[in-house]
Amino acid sequence: MSELQQQRAAALHTLTLACDEQFGDGGRFTRVFAPGRVNLLGDHTDYNEGLVLPVTLGRGVYQAGRPATNRRIRLHSVNFGESLVFDLEDLPTPQAGSWASYVIGVVREFMALISLDRGFDLAIHGDLPAGAGLSSSAALTVSTALILEELTGQRLPRQELVRLCQRVEQRYAGVNCGIMDQFVCALGQAGHSLFLDCRTLAYRHIPLQFTDYRLVVIHSGVSRGLYGSRYNERRAECDSGVQQLRRHFPHVKSLRDVDMKMLQSREAGLEDPVARRCSHVVMENLRVRDAVAALLTADYPTLGQLMTASHASLRDLYAVSCPELDTLVDVCLATEGVLGARMTGAGFGGCAVAVVENAGLDSLSERVKTQYQARTGCEPAIFPLQGNYACGVL
Ligand code: GLA
Repeated sequence: MSELQQQRAAALHTLTLACDEQFGDGGRFTRVFAPGRVNLLGDHTDYNEGLVLPVTLGRGVYQAGRPATNRRIRLHSVNFGESLVFDLEDLPTPQAGSWASYVIGVVREFMALISLDRGFDLAIHGDLPAGAGLSSSAALTVSTALILEELTGQRLPRQELVRLCQRVEQRYAGVNCGIMDQFVCALGQAGHSLFLDCRTLAYRHIPLQFTDYRLVVIHSGVSRGLYGSRYNERRAECDSGVQQLRRHFPHVKSLRDVDMKMLQSREAGLEDPVARRCSHVVMENLRVRDAVAALLTADYPTLGQLMTASHASLRDLYAVSCPELDTLVDVCLATEGVLGARMTGAGFGGCAVAVVENAGLDSLSERVKTQYQARTGCEPAIFPLQGNYACGVL
């Protein structure tokens, strides 16, 4: 069994034990999985109708559910060691951003589309590090929507399911997020990255053929905590850029319609920080296109350079990095065999992703553990991408 398969077997075993303990007899459970994600390139572009290139992970959220004979819903989170019981007619309003708020949010949104005639038992277990920016919340909402589909026998078109989960994030966690995380979680494929145009929602699966190189995800040990307000602030800055640019270029509906020439033209007259935020988005979209071309030709040195340039842009222009992530990326880049590295996701903590030659993997792990920790006092966690999974019924 590969390491990835062993990890999955262990997660499913934990889930089965939890079902027995919490719910006992009462029928067979259906099991589903939805993965977390790491973004290779294209951050803070999705809500600007831009381009993204995320990859699903081998880790994510597992759920086991079965229909009840009455209208009671019983939920249990293995990770949080918490249980909740309530009636279908009387869904509680849990604390925004808690695990239960995501689950109840999906139930509410699902019930607005499809009626549930009875309750259910649901056990949830995730093997993503918490607060790491690897989209554990998208994995939680998508897996909840999948299990509801299984329990009701009613399937939503995939993109409708994605939108539903995005709405839950926006309404129940207060983060005005884009669509990337839920989209890749629901539509990503094993062995591939997902090239998504967030304006048209056209997408293409790009094969990952890392034979001599590996992708490595490294958690900085800095939890993103309350990143929502700063994320929403960036969105507002981009919206302000669009408003200002539209006065001179009436066709501009989003930053997707903007190029560097327009930004640099004197008429645009954008002030900082809005000018820097807009430059990041425009250049990042170009980097995503170049990264797709690099992946398709297995040109990993170019992919690495684009990733490193993206980090500099997120740090200097978009201001969503933090000293620890900058140090982490520096340590990666100073290691032989590393072709590129960047923070990934929303930022303000969380993870970096690096592309490294197979031969350099051990020394990368070693240096991150010693040097990064010595320089920041934070404890990193290293996850070489062993393979990745699509979501689905197990
Ligand atoms: C978070 C959001 C996504 C995206 C990224 C940044 O993960 O949920 O929609 O905006 O940040 O690229």
